[in-house]
Amino acid sequence: MSGLKVLSIASEIFPLIKTGGLADVAGALPLALAREGFTTRTLAPGYPGLLAKLDSTERVHSYNSLMGGPARVLAAKAGALDLFVLDAPHLFARPGGPYAGPDGADWPDNAIRFGAFCRVGADIAKGAVASFSPDILHAHDWQAGLAAAYLHYDGGPRPGTAITIHNLAFQGVFSSLLLEELGLPPEAMATEGVEYFGGIGFLKAGLYFSDRITTVSPTYAREIVTPEGGVALDGLLRSRGADLVGIRNGIDDDVWNPATDELLAQAFDATHLAQRPANKAALQKRFDLDIDGDAPLFGLVTRMTAQKGIDLLLECLPLLLAEGGQVALLGSGERALQDGFAAAALAHPGRVGCAFTYDESLAHLIQGGADFIVIPSRFEPCGLTQLCALRYGSTPIVARVGGLADTIIDANDAALAAQVATGVQFAPPDADQLAAALRRAIAIYRDPPAMERMRLNGMRSDVSWRIPARQFAGLYNELVNERAAFAGLA
Ligand code: ADP
Ligand code: GLC
Repeated sequence: MSGLKVLSIASEIFPLIKTGGLADVAGALPLALAREGFTTRTLAPGYPGLLAKLDSTERVHSYNSLMGGPARVLAAKAGALDLFVLDAPHLFARPGGPYAGPDGADWPDNAIRFGAFCRVGADIAKGAVASFSPDILHAHDWQAGLAAAYLHYDGGPRPGTAITIHNLAFQGVFSSLLLEELGLPPEAMATEGVEYFGGIGFLKAGLYFSDRITTVSPTYAREIVTPEGGVALDGLLRSRGADLVGIRNGIDDDVWNPATDELLAQAFDATHLAQRPANKAALQKRFDLDIDGDAPLFGLVTRMTAQKGIDLLLECLPLLLAEGGQVALLGSGERALQDGFAAAALAHPGRVGCAFTYDESLAHLIQGGADFIVIPSRFEPCGLTQLCALRYGSTPIVARVGGLADTIIDANDAALAAQVATGVQFAPPDADQLAAALRRAIAIYRDPPAMERMRLNGMRSDVSWRIPARQFAGLYNELVNERAAFAGLA
């Protein structure tokens, strides 16, 4: 079925506002769906930075009072993206990031900010904007979780609904005292409603009320129905098992294309690999590392949190340095982790370099210049940096969890013999196993033909949205057929 309309609801969207992979997905999936014949509009909050980047806007709906203040919905364009933007100054006209103020503390009214966002998503889903009456509402993460609950309690006709879990660790749980302010009826405060451990669970509500649940890789879909991986939602997820599916993320292969990338020192591709080392030299220079083409260079592009397991790499640093390795880390986040890497850089000038910042262009240079990208995550719903790494010929060394397990072919004996390996995996995610993986990676590095084979295998893997977008297309079509059958019965 083509011509179907999808309303995507996402609290961040690349290239307008981004804190992590959710933004990349929200920005790229609509473009891939367009190639499958779907029309997507994404509802995003009107943060000042986002409003400033819009090419054109038109008011298509207004509220005299939306949870405490006037608001408007703008239909907007930004590059190739078609958006609805919730312009609600009392909620979003603030400095800082999407969820927290400049001091890093979450906004105390996040329940109302994203509750209002979901209310508007539900209103558009029910036809508030006549020119775009969606067949599917697709919510992303807890920030969009209440939309399906509003549709349920409103009653009446509604589109099919899906929610995607990008990270089960973030659940959006707030005080039950906010129920009325959020415009939810008293009966919603129930297990068969939005209630979650005595509070209001935004993600819980989304998982309970959406017709389908997707998450960002097949392995993560299996992990989250277990008590170990379910972050207290595994029971609900098990009960929804028939409606839960893992669809791995892709990356935008126009944004991430080493053959045309102007953020690189030198463009290259699988047939022009000789151009790649110029990027390694540029990367070494940028990070004050010794300019040494032979030293295996290990790159990281990451949020610095416990999830990402980068403390394990610190533990393995003596091994890496003894083997002549170098480290280039781009990341920001927790203070203790930054301090650990800062100390390592100080102790090993020319060998360890760090940039504690968020820098899109530096991320490209690392992917294009490093020999390896290290991702020792304790859990990883999908992970996008290993996909970028594959495309840019920096071989991923990854923990065998979540989407990292699904997207990298480990260089075990069978894979090496069949010449299909694309990286090195290790399990469980601890320092001993990471050390063993680093040793295996360095051994391959010392065998240039084997290393080149693995690099090329990576560069030739399909990390695009083509296959996953088709899976979403199938899911949307199923949902629309179900709703049609339901309407026929009513
Ligand atoms: P997560 O969403 O858990 O942070 P992903 O791997 O899915 O992990 O996505 C991270 C995205 O953010 C990637 O596009 C990556 O390149 C980018 N990224 C992470 N940290 C930085 C940084 N410090 N500078 C630039 N880009 C970064
Ligand atoms: C989350 C996850 C990451 C995933 C991203 C996009 O941030 O931590 O693994 O790739 O969402 O789905």
